[in-house]
Amino acid sequence: MSTLKQLEQIVGATQVLTGEAMTPYLIDWRGRYRGEALAVVRPGSTEEVAAVMRLCAEQRIPVVPSGGNTGMCGGATPDETGLALVVCLARLNRVRELDTDNDTITVEAGCILQAVQEAARAAGRLFPLSLAAEGSCTIGGNLSTNAGGTQVLRYGNTRELALGLEVVTPQGEIWNGLRGLRKDNTGYDLRDLYIGSEGTLGIITAATMKLYPMPVAQRIAMLALNSLEDAIAVLSRARAGFGASLTGFEVMMGPVLKAVVRLYPQQRLPFDGSSADAPWFAILELSDSESAEHAQARFESVLGAAIEDGLVVDAAIAENIAQSKAIWHLRESIPLAEAELGKSIKHDVSIPISLIGKFVKTTNAALQEKFPGIQHIVFGHLGDGNLHYNVARAPNQTEQELLANQYEVYQLVHDSVHAHAGSISAEHGVGQLKRDELTRYKSELELRLMKQIKQALDPHGLMNPGKVLQT
Ligand code: FAD
Ligand code: MLT
Ligand code: ZN
Repeated sequence: MSTLKQLEQIVGATQVLTGEAMTPYLIDWRGRYRGEALAVVRPGSTEEVAAVMRLCAEQRIPVVPSGGNTGMCGGATPDETGLALVVCLARLNRVRELDTDNDTITVEAGCILQAVQEAARAAGRLFPLSLAAEGSCTIGGNLSTNAGGTQVLRYGNTRELALGLEVVTPQGEIWNGLRGLRKDNTGYDLRDLYIGSEGTLGIITAATMKLYPMPVAQRIAMLALNSLEDAIAVLSRARAGFGASLTGFEVMMGPVLKAVVRLYPQQRLPFDGSSADAPWFAILELSDSESAEHAQARFESVLGAAIEDGLVVDAAIAENIAQSKAIWHLRESIPLAEAELGKSIKHDVSIPISLIGKFVKTTNAALQEKFPGIQHIVFGHLGDGNLHYNVARAPNQTEQELLANQYEVYQLVHDSVHAHAGSISAEHGVGQLKRDELTRYKSELELRLMKQIKQALDPHGLMNPGKVLQT
């Protein structure tokens, strides 16, 4: 019997896609990678995933797991050989259990992040992972990329939110590690191996995630600032003044936000006059567990002092939920606006916060010297030391001319990141985009240990070949 027929027997004929129906799975959302596949299968249960994996192991078919296809590094896009099977987890989308005494939720890998947030909210709890793609990314994808987002400085990356996993191995066995335990020191942590492994070690089919109390009150402000250094000084004061109540601190260049309101005229900057022309903006979010009055008093004392000391040019404090949402919406619109404006070269870097000002100054200068006129698109999660340090074409350049230099740009920026004790992937992962760059910055020993782990768990190299590690 043909492989396709065998797959149909496992998942049902309608869940094996071939030909045109595969198109959305063969290209990443930024249109940077395009591949081919034997087929796309959409299993409906963990057992079906396991049966598919057993078949692939027997026939040595490479497997590319796919969630919401919102990843930034081409991790879910198959290569061009057409040999791989794309395994889409979207139909594994049940909430299996929500335990308010243990503050945990157990969800299947294909659950959309927003659905997990909503299930938690309906039970009076917060699931804090939050990113602009939350309406389409899946929890399996979030775990596999160890996604970050806008609440990391208080709640951590996806890894910190995960307590247990269910995983199907490349051999088709099911590991039930769905433990809702905050303490478990029983040897090597398999959970942490699978998290962030971008589908190269196995398929995550379900996870037990932490829940938190809903904040009683929130205060959100957008700040107009004269410099990135001032943003860092305000962040430092906000950390000291708010402690664990500081749940968000984002930063963005003025021209980036201006581009958002130009492209989406229904959105507006909450500033008039010269404040709207500030070179930098920040968003500050305080989540209080006492009361609205308590939140307001803390907010005013930290912000008031920062304004008095000249660190903040202007502050727009949201007066209601609609205004808070409008401020966050401006920030969350940046990636899509950036994509609409044309192809850019993206870097997702983390740097010790104390070195960020120096990193941006020296890297901007080095880029301008080598590629005069190249435009900087800098924004990100300053509270986590994570910048999206992107560059777009110079006004006199075509997109093709920009992209012709992309590897030189990556190397210049990543060398500077390395020189500033940073990481070349803060939250987006490696995928195929940064696979070769990784070899420039990881030690020979680190790469060897990673390859040995891969070899031990996936001896035939069937899981997402060509991603993360060179094969
Ligand atoms: P996919 O793109 O489908 O897959 C990503 C990787 O995980 C691939 O390597 C794939 O093979 C693997 N994979 C997927 N599911 C599984 C599974 N069940 N088991 C094993 N491997 C699997 N990311 C951030 O970190 N922070 C942000 O703030 C952020 N903002 C974004 C904003 C926008 C507008 C967009 C489009 C993306 C943003 N991202 C952000 C990137 C992206 O949303 C995340 O990387 C997300 O975690 C990917 O989830 P996904 O379900 O779309 O995964
Ligand atoms: C963000 O912070 O908005 C995302 O990580 C997406 C991006 O880098 O474009
Ligand atoms: Zn980000």
